[in-house]
Amino acid sequence: MNQDKLKEQVAHEAVNDIQDNMIVGLGTGSTMYYAIQRLGERVKDGLNIKGIPTSEQTAKWAQQYGIPLTDFSEVSHLDIVIDGADEIDGNFQLIKGGGGALLREKIVANATDQFIVIVDESKYVKTLGKFKLPVEVIPFGWEVAAREIEALGCEATLRVGKDGTFLSDNGHYILDCDFKEIHNPEKLNQDLISIIGVVETGLFINMVQKVLISYSNPEKIIAL
Ligand code: A5P
Repeated sequence: MNQDKLKEQVAHEAVNDIQDNMIVGLGTGSTMYYAIQRLGERVKDGLNIKGIPTSEQTAKWAQQYGIPLTDFSEVSHLDIVIDGADEIDGNFQLIKGGGGALLREKIVANATDQFIVIVDESKYVKTLGKFKLPVEVIPFGWEVAAREIEALGCEATLRVGKDGTFLSDNGHYILDCDFKEIHNPEKLNQDLISIIGVVETGLFINMVQKVLISYSNPEKIIAL
């Protein structure tokens, strides 16, 4: 089974957990696309929920599939948040931000006690760090922040999009940081966040309540 199919399967499984009257955090990325599509079908069939999107892209998809949206001016607690990840380890620590939405994703994940991560088998790793860690930084003086980040033991590359330097939905830059292996994600997150100019990191520490992983051979979905 190809990776898209695995993403679709695990996304559909997660959407089964959503019930009437829930406020639902909607993550970002290609796995979440399938969740949003499926959730839209359930809304069309009468499910009554409201979503809070974690990116402009997710908001567009949600609108396209007829999912009513709300925001933090109306809500302070979310019943459930579903999101993908770039890597997850056996302690449920995550690297996120491949799509550049890490800041809003972390704000939304922090507002629930039901944060569900949906991944295909390729994302489940023994040690985090093969995927370059996204770190969101303020554009002014980003070079200084980058040097301080590199002093922690990585190579930090400014993310480039198709129209030049990539800008997050919040107007910030993203540094993709190649640490190779991250043995103490909690400490690294603290070290990074204490650097002036760093807005947020893609390390999601002790935030996850449930993980769904889809496997191709044999075909199965495991809930952890
Ligand atoms: C978005 O910024 C990311 O955190 C995504 O959740 C993550 O990159 C997973 O994306 P895919 O589902 O596209 O692999």
